Amino acid sequence: MATEPVIIDCDPGQDDAVALLLALASPGDLNVLAVTAVSGNVPLELTAANARRVIELAGRSDVPVHAGCDRPLLRPAVTAEHMHGQTGLDGAGLPDTATALADGHAVEAIIELLRERPSGSVTLCPVGPLTNVALALHLAPDIADRIGRIVLMGGAAGPGNVTPSAEFNIYVDPHAASIVFRSGAPIVMLGLDVTQQALVNADRLAAIAAVDTPVSRSVVGMLDFYGARSRVNPSAGSPLHDPCAVAYLLDPGLFAGRPCHVMIEVEGTHTLGRTVVDRSGRADTHPNATVIDEVDAGGLFALLTERLARLTA
Ligand code: BDR
Ligand code: CA
Repeated sequence: MATEPVIIDCDPGQDDAVALLLALASPGDLNVLAVTAVSGNVPLELTAANARRVIELAGRSDVPVHAGCDRPLLRPAVTAEHMHGQTGLDGAGLPDTATALADGHAVEAIIELLRERPSGSVTLCPVGPLTNVALALHLAPDIADRIGRIVLMGGAAGPGNVTPSAEFNIYVDPHAASIVFRSGAPIVMLGLDVTQQALVNADRLAAIAAVDTPVSRSVVGMLDFYGARSRVNPSAGSPLHDPCAVAYLLDPGLFAGRPCHVMIEVEGTHTLGRTVVDRSGRADTHPNATVIDEVDAGGLFALLTERLARLTA
């Protein structure tokens, strides 16, 4: 089978880092054309550096990393050092990056890569706020028809994790999310409904530790740090959000969901950034996204562990 060309737009972030490693460990399935960084978990300067620290860890410094937007389209930046640490990648034990940023803004890179490749062939995998993707769609509306699909981590049909209503990636830049969900590009949404089923527990962490490579040791360090802060239910484990989007690209059979119309709240006093998932078709009968709400978590962690073991650099 041909590999799927993919651009990963991210704000590393420990779970973003694991998502990147999962993709880079899977060259038989995914051709990572570029990694684009956005302001999110920590400011852009750090997310762009962290993306390069992770590709170096994977032995893939050949993958271009482009720096993108340093703040949301309209709102002031919101970051999450309380979850990810001051560097955004606390626990990883990685050195400073020795790799240069690729030339060109991330938004330009997204537009160019979509225009130079056959229409419908490139997948976007955003796992941070949607600012870069939205700005690309705004500056180059022709790309909406050229995107093969957008498989993103963000949103929730149920409760949020920043406010009672909103999930972090959508809350940080709701206007960008609104542009993306109204773009007409095919979207697969992996929100908290599914990522909070993908729980890192002691057994799963031990299986990754048993791989015993520099990559697995770094991943265990990151998951220890991040897991201690993101735990929803201490006895069950901590959610591993962003790798779910990459795992969906690798093995969609691990997941279940259904087409729905999703609207983004950009004005609500208590509901800003909410993904309103219209399961009943009351507001709109035309689905704009496949909303995933189930995962075989055991299968997902088996896939992750097996792929991480391939990164022996
Ligand atoms: C999302 O927010 C970030 O903190 C994580 O990296 C993930 O993308 C989860 O709400
Ligand atoms: Ca993220």
